[in-house]
Amino acid sequence: MTQHHQPRFITFEGIDGAGKSTHIGFVADYLQQRGVSLVSSREPGGTSLGEKLRELLLHEKMHLETEALLMFASRREHIAQVIAPALARGEWVISDRFTDASFAYQGGGRGMDLRKMEALEAWVHPHLQPDLTFLFDVPLAVARARLDATRELDKFEQERSDFFAATRNEYLRRAAQFPERFRIIDATQSIADIQVQLAQLLDVLLEQSVATV
Ligand code: TYD
Repeated sequence: MTQHHQPRFITFEGIDGAGKSTHIGFVADYLQQRGVSLVSSREPGGTSLGEKLRELLLHEKMHLETEALLMFASRREHIAQVIAPALARGEWVISDRFTDASFAYQGGGRGMDLRKMEALEAWVHPHLQPDLTFLFDVPLAVARARLDATRELDKFEQERSDFFAATRNEYLRRAAQFPERFRIIDATQSIADIQVQLAQLLDVLLEQSVATV
């Protein structure tokens, strides 16, 4: 009799400057040390075409629906080439952003009609949803201070605070709508405290995913 973990799909979300990137490597290491084989990826991007779209999306000005369509085009390719094959092989997938980001940024931030977003979601991935979504949540002022301290800002990061307020609100609305998969992480905590919390949540997921054959 051997034990293995059934595949799981985990996503990381939050406004720019929430600090999620710091924690993705920790989650990958934590899972791998416990015998999980996984693929770590990101959106927009994750494939060769997706990375080209990312370059355009992060630096070109475009109509908001063009932006949403290109996000979902990148996602379609990501699912076809990376996510679905990995899950079918029995591997876990962790992705730095997924469809919740389109709802939050293009829907909340830019004000695109959420019914159109739902139609795109139903078209591009009618059956696939993350098993677990970590939402790194911080007040806007904290996120802004972190961004200003760290780097040159891309197109989204240069947006004004009302854009991020609306983006954050939409993330929180999604978290309330799908409480079974969302876990809100108070990202004002220290990195060490956040890692303790992530480890506890991952332990639950690991336990639930054990299959004996
Ligand atoms: P991000 O994931 O924050 O990467 P980095 O840490 O390298 O800046 O950058 C991706 C940007 O793309 C981010 O500002 C959010 C935006 N985005 C959308 O607007 N919609 C989407 O559907 C996705 C996946 C990302």
